[in-house]
Amino acid sequence: MCPDDTHRSPGDSMARRKKVYEGKAKILYEGPEPGTLVQYFKDDATAFNAQKKDVVDGKGVLNNRLSEFFMTGLNAIGVPTHFIRRLNMREQLIRQVEIIPLEVVVRNVAAGSLSTRLGIEEGTPLPRPIIEFCYKDDKLGDPLVSEEHILAFGWASQQDLDDIIALSLRVNDFLSGCMLAVGIKLVDFKIEVGRIWDNDYQRLILADEISPDSCRLWDIETGKKLDKDVFRRDLGSLADAYTEVARRLGVLPANSGPVTRPTLIN
Ligand code: TMP
Repeated sequence: MCPDDTHRSPGDSMARRKKVYEGKAKILYEGPEPGTLVQYFKDDATAFNAQKKDVVDGKGVLNNRLSEFFMTGLNAIGVPTHFIRRLNMREQLIRQVEIIPLEVVVRNVAAGSLSTRLGIEEGTPLPRPIIEFCYKDDKLGDPLVSEEHILAFGWASQQDLDDIIALSLRVNDFLSGCMLAVGIKLVDFKIEVGRIWDNDYQRLILADEISPDSCRLWDIETGKKLDKDVFRRDLGSLADAYTEVARRLGVLPANSGPVTRPTLIN
């Protein structure tokens, strides 16, 4: 692997590929075969619907590897995901899906918008995992919606919702276990789900990414935050926090220093 591709900009290798979509943290390009896409992880960090922005050297590389790690594990236990294989430091090959326009949030411990909305102190364990749905629309700030809204406006069917809830709880169990094993508490996370068709048969699979951008991760011993709240709340180096997660999970060598140009285990 060429070390220089750590800092390659999307334009360098992707100029010949057609851009399909650009989000705040990732770009999607047409894939090599029909039904596939290339997902490129940028170093851009945004919060509060992009009102706060920065570039964090190495974030895209770390999230590409971390999302690969979680999606591969999920695939291995039979949770279907869009992930096919990692292509290089910043890109992975994925299945093209029709994204359900929902952000599905699973919470184990009160934090973030749940704490603000309901006045529950951050860190309060929840009696059971709570699933919330937000309507995926940046212009509206991804508002919280109920199952009633989802069904009435046709964003997903009742069967889809049942499948999404079952999928989310399996992801929660898997991720909670992965994190617990390395001394990290999975406080909450957000996933996105996509629809695919195999001939006439349609099903829902996990899409987007799983990374410290879309999870809250607290060190069990110290409570130290190891996720995007470090950026949202100006708590220190985001790259160091993500490197710590990657190192504990074995995605980075244990002895690697703070990374802006990570050395990655292959
Ligand atoms: P919240 O407490 O701000 O609603 O966030 C819940 C979880 O969802 C948290 O793990 C962060 C993640 N999240 C995203 O991945 N993208 C977003 O746009 C937001 C607001 C939260």
